[in-house]
Amino acid sequence: MSDQHRAVAIDGPAASGKSTVAKRLSKSLGMVMVNSGAMYRAVTWQILQEGVEPADSEAVIAALRKMEIVCGVDDGFSDIRINGRLLTEELRSEEVNNSVSKVAAIPEVRNRLVAMQRAYRASNDVVMEGRDIGSVVFPETPFKLYIDASEEVRRARRAGDGEADAVAARDAQDSQRKTAPLKISEGAIVIDSSEMGIDEVVEAAHRALISLGWE
Ligand code: DC
Repeated sequence: MSDQHRAVAIDGPAASGKSTVAKRLSKSLGMVMVNSGAMYRAVTWQILQEGVEPADSEAVIAALRKMEIVCGVDDGFSDIRINGRLLTEELRSEEVNNSVSKVAAIPEVRNRLVAMQRAYRASNDVVMEGRDIGSVVFPETPFKLYIDASEEVRRARRAGDGEADAVAARDAQDSQRKTAPLKISEGAIVIDSSEMGIDEVVEAAHRALISLGWE
């Protein structure tokens, strides 16, 4: 049963640094790193390929039913295939950035992906990052972190990556949706990374886990 495996839940807004922290923590703790945002991005990429309008939830749900979604692990990191195609770089496109929050607000999409997220833990210890990992996916785990950063810093980080991403607009949609909105879940330790280098954030995350009972 999934309870035998440990889960570290890392939530936070877009470009807060949570992916980098999750990667570093998963390596040092010997756990699998799962990027749940990539799963929402993959479904979004596929519906855009099919010419489906992201805001038309009925059409998205119909397309979702026909999709074969396979989530795996490669070298300690989650990966995702839709209809047999491994999706990587295409998940960071501007089109996906602009539409992913609409698709992620649809409960049927969330139900299917949350089940796949939980399935990772059936066979692995996982560090999972996203928006609702502590609140919905693994609400019972004691190991919950919320990585934050100012909007200015987050915008600058995305621009530094050469990525067009309206982080504030995405956060507004992700925080205001009815189902599983982005929020600080009960018991989570908040780390504001605005003024920290990555090593400092990882160190703070380690300390936070220990204070939550990690041995
Ligand atoms: O982490 P990310 O920026 O790659 O996530 C992309 C989008 O996916 C994000 O804007 C909202 C959605 N998402 C979500 O709704 N729930 C999650 N657990 C992870 C991501």
